[in-house]
Amino acid sequence: MTLTNKQLIALEKSLGVSSLTQIIEPFIQEQGIELYLKRDDFLHPIISGNKWRKLKYILEHALTLNTQKIISMGGAYSNHLHALAYVGKLLGIRTEARIRGERPEILNSTLSDMLDWGMHLEFVSRSDYRLLRKYKAYDALPGLQKGEYWLPEGGAMDLALLGVAELVAEIGLAYDVLCVPCGTATTLAGLVSAAPNKQVLGFAALKGAEYLNQEVNALLKNTACHNNEWFIQLQYHFGGFAKIKPELLHFIRGFEQAQCIKLEPIYTGKMLYGIYDLISQGYFKSGQKIIAIHTGGLQGNRGFSS
Ligand SMILES: Cc1ncc(COP(=O)(O)O)c(C=O)c1O
Repeated sequence: MTLTNKQLIALEKSLGVSSLTQIIEPFIQEQGIELYLKRDDFLHPIISGNKWRKLKYILEHALTLNTQKIISMGGAYSNHLHALAYVGKLLGIRTEARIRGERPEILNSTLSDMLDWGMHLEFVSRSDYRLLRKYKAYDALPGLQKGEYWLPEGGAMDLALLGVAELVAEIGLAYDVLCVPCGTATTLAGLVSAAPNKQVLGFAALKGAEYLNQEVNALLKNTACHNNEWFIQLQYHFGGFAKIKPELLHFIRGFEQAQCIKLEPIYTGKMLYGIYDLISQGYFKSGQKIIAIHTGGLQGNRGFSS
């Protein structure tokens, strides 16, 4: 699939191709393992990491349908909604968000940005939020008006997989394992669909995430993918989504200082903690090359300092 919309083509040109950075860390090299980060965090300050990958063909589809408004859902620090609000403003499409939980008295910086970019914010109860999760197609949300497009949580649609698959095609290095943090596991499904002979490891950012296995299988159903070499690590959630513990923050600080690469504690910090832990347990074989995807989301760091 290729983009046809001129604005999206221009936006894509401005992003360029993300590079690979090798992580130099004595205990990793001693095990004969090479670890690289695919720097999707560099793609754009806001539509960074997996956001552009997942959104690009969805936006193309929405524009083909003459969509005037995209409605989506997420938490109060959602990178997905943040990127959507920004790109909606850029493309001249109205955006609306169904946000989990009560409206806070003072909007955090993620929500303030979204509001500034013209997104309409609607706060929904946790039980209503859970119900919204069952609407998985662009026209599935009850009450949708003409010209409105429903975008499921985290951009979990078949079209998102096509953009993520392009990331795999960009990797100009022989490798054995791809690693990625998981929220809805849509990004993982995209990687699996495009890397038929590789091991793909996900790191769940939330607790009790076994159900993600079904979600991935459902997303892969419409692809020609026969890769069964994927697995989601469930034990690196640190208490739940957006929950942190001192050992995680300690790890992130050490990693950032040693590698001069910024992480955030919701997704990429947990994934890299998990990768380091698995390496130290001898999970990977000597000689293996691992590519971990830096999925961006650094704006989320503001939620931990404000
Ligand atoms: C920075 C970052 N990394 C990883 C993820 C998880 O992506 P997915 O929902 O496709 O599993 C998200 C959420 O979309 C995210 O914002």
